[in-house]
Amino acid sequence: MLAPSLLAADFGNLEKEMSWFNQSRADWLHLDIMDGVFVPNISFGFPVLKAVARLCQKPLDVHLMIVQPEKFIGEVKALGAYMMNVHYEACPHLHRVLGQIHEAGMKAGVTLNPSTPVCVLEDIIQDADMVLLMSVNPGFGGQKFIEHTIDKVKSLRSLIERTGSHALIEIDGGVNMETGRRLREAGADVLVAGSAVFGAPDPLKAAADLASL
Ligand code: DX5
Ligand code: ZN
Repeated sequence: MLAPSLLAADFGNLEKEMSWFNQSRADWLHLDIMDGVFVPNISFGFPVLKAVARLCQKPLDVHLMIVQPEKFIGEVKALGAYMMNVHYEACPHLHRVLGQIHEAGMKAGVTLNPSTPVCVLEDIIQDADMVLLMSVNPGFGGQKFIEHTIDKVKSLRSLIERTGSHALIEIDGGVNMETGRRLREAGADVLVAGSAVFGAPDPLKAAADLASL
């Protein structure tokens, strides 16, 4: 599956971006919300995303790179989001937060920074619908893929198999045709790609190529 990240889109022409996107082979639209505290950057907030949600006909995969993401469950739900991803590093009471996301009627994803090992998921994997492994340090698009992520995908795949969890594996950062192919081989289910799709000369073709990996 493919979830192109809006972060690399032309914000001056969101209507045009969403019109090709709706016709593309992408499965979900990935939305990166930043607060300038959890990550050293700020992207876009809910007023902008409301406009995007109106234009987008595919499920929304919302990635919150913010402290206390549980404060915004209502806002994410109001967008009509399918999946809400919170960072493990931002949630001391992760089990409660995943429960609150489920109660709101959304799928719940747990995100790990590159420096957080997969083994911390041991006691939460049964409650997660997805694990989002960051393959760059979150906050910016267009960064170089961190190679160690391939090993993390393999460890996560064996944790999922061993525990009988239904969680999907999603990877975010530096994904292109080359890294994407290796990630799929290692066991990734969903690839996020910003610059490799919205920044491509032919985004429709780029989405089709990445979706077919
Ligand atoms: C990074 C974001 C990513 C970003 C990926 O903080 O979470 O979703 O948009 O961008 P690329 O694909 O350009 O690395
Ligand atoms: Zn993201």
